[in-house]
Amino acid sequence: MTRQRLGVCYYPEHWPKSRWSEDAAMMKEIGLSFVRVGEFSWSRLEPCDGVYDFAWLAQAIDALDGVGLKVVLGTPTATPPKWLVDKMPDMAALDANGRPRRFGSRRHYCFSHEGYAQECDRIVERLAQSFGAHPAIAAWQTDNEYGCHDTVLSYSQAALRAFRRWCEAKYRRIETLNEAWGNVFWSMDYRSFDEIELPNMTVTEANPSHLMDFRRFSSDQVVAFNQRQARIIRRHAPGATILHNFMGSFVDFDHYALSDDLDVAAWDSYPLGFLERSSHDDAFKLRYMRVGDPDFQAFHHDLYRACGRGRWQIMEQQPGPVNWAPWNPAPAAGAVRLWTFEAFAAGAETVSYFRWRQAPFAQEQMHEGLLLPNAEPNEGFNIVARVSRELSALDARVETVRAPVALIFDYESAWAWRIEPQGQDFSYFDLMLSIYRGLRRAGLSVDVTAPTAAAVAARRLIVAPALFAPSLEFTEALAESGATLLLGPRAGSKTADFQIPANLPPGALRSLIDIRVRRIESLRPGASVKISGEGAFVRWRESLLLGESVRRELISDDGGTALARCGNVFYLSGWPDDDLLASVLRRVFSAAEIATLDLAEDIRIRDNGAMRYIFNYGAEATDVSALIGQETLLLGEPILEPCGVAAFRRATDR
Ligand code: GAL
Repeated sequence: MTRQRLGVCYYPEHWPKSRWSEDAAMMKEIGLSFVRVGEFSWSRLEPCDGVYDFAWLAQAIDALDGVGLKVVLGTPTATPPKWLVDKMPDMAALDANGRPRRFGSRRHYCFSHEGYAQECDRIVERLAQSFGAHPAIAAWQTDNEYGCHDTVLSYSQAALRAFRRWCEAKYRRIETLNEAWGNVFWSMDYRSFDEIELPNMTVTEANPSHLMDFRRFSSDQVVAFNQRQARIIRRHAPGATILHNFMGSFVDFDHYALSDDLDVAAWDSYPLGFLERSSHDDAFKLRYMRVGDPDFQAFHHDLYRACGRGRWQIMEQQPGPVNWAPWNPAPAAGAVRLWTFEAFAAGAETVSYFRWRQAPFAQEQMHEGLLLPNAEPNEGFNIVARVSRELSALDARVETVRAPVALIFDYESAWAWRIEPQGQDFSYFDLMLSIYRGLRRAGLSVDVTAPTAAAVAARRLIVAPALFAPSLEFTEALAESGATLLLGPRAGSKTADFQIPANLPPGALRSLIDIRVRRIESLRPGASVKISGEGAFVRWRESLLLGESVRRELISDDGGTALARCGNVFYLSGWPDDDLLASVLRRVFSAAEIATLDLAEDIRIRDNGAMRYIFNYGAEATDVSALIGQETLLLGEPILEPCGVAAFRRATDR
């Protein structure tokens, strides 16, 4: 079993060479194992077209290697240098208003530009040739945060040309595309694939089927871009570990598909920045401003574990205030440690902090690192040193086992409901996170997974809200799983072409529970539909027609079916508020015979195999002794401090 370790992100090119050995020694001193380097350094690796300078990178790697640190080497393709951009100005992505995304920050490229892709092939190949066999390289990171700064969708000429060919490959005949998109509506018929436009700058909304295919295409372009790099690296470094650092609450491409070309899925966790940017109200943001949303990080850990087929890590962990959120508070004492153990509890192989030393220049000078700009240790440095000691004492290892509960998370569904929210605040991501929160509040460890047969086998409970267009194969897998199912709202409400199913929603899912959705309505903020004293629907509600085999488990005050049930299949016909969600989940847990825990509001639990972790996200010390029972604590105290972490190994027979 893999030992869980710590790492850091380092930019040797930002500091004099004379510093490198000292930095390496300090990293070693606080128990770090991995150092990521290189991902933004193209202008220093290739200062002019075809003129390479890898010597400094080799020296920096040697300095790290010299003290036994392992290196994660990033390909520098997120930051094409000026000479390259000037050589091919049309490599820029165009935004939805047709404006180029210009040089001067990062990610200034279009995923569909073949000329740029070839330049990437070249630099990646050179790097892989030079460092592929270096014994200190533990892993390769492709690019950096694909899609960051809203860069997946591009409306360039390169994208247009590639989209036309993509449509042709998918539909073969233009009549088939016209039919699938419903182009007879508003005289949108095309006569050939070369007439197809990109769905931007239209007078009013573009056709949702067109938008959906454009999103699928754009996602495929990201996947293909990454695949080229992965193949080149593997050619020169067979057996290399390849990873990419994904982001939080980011759904613009299919992360499962991209991860097929990776060995490890990594993600960048900035709990306070994400909270500030979230759609939570001010009360929630104030309450958790120094510790972050208690469920946001965990949700992503569980999602990226699925992407990495069990192998995942944090590539960038927030160590102090960041620079990019609307407000950038400092973490509470203990929060960085809490976040680190939360990741290890979910089976992370590594938690790596961003960044080693705060830069005194350029865009991120207000972003803290483990060291101050003048190289003195900052708070993060000492926290990491402590976590590192605790981690060794725990001898913590990756030992995650399959969770009994699966929450189905699907990228196409996220695109679908962004394309057609129908109510301004219908956010697939927010709905998923709120349901995940409900599951976690019950003390459950959850796997967030793709809608595939493999993902749902051997589960007790499968929760699949708002699943846009489940395939027949997946629907059959749900039926065969024998698990208790919680479906709806909006599940199965479209075909893959983005049309209403012939026999009304939930389309194919009707084979699991005989209901049909007759009407949907969205509810403005403040409006709700009460459900027999057990909470309410907010944002969204549906009116159902029920077949004879279906029971009404919960009824709305206006007489509608709020929760329908057939055997162990439940359909929830709206967006539940917290009370309703808790009440629905209680019924579902009982049908699934899943034992739950009664947790205080800010206490969370996560099992890593037999190791159980308890976290306190609240501002008050909380007695968690009932959760510990007779077990011996390896970390923490029964009266768990704010930001406290307790851990113990459960007897194997439970
Ligand atoms: C990440 C990015 C890093 C750095 C960091 C700042 O999104 O990968 O390069 O910009 O944010 O928090």
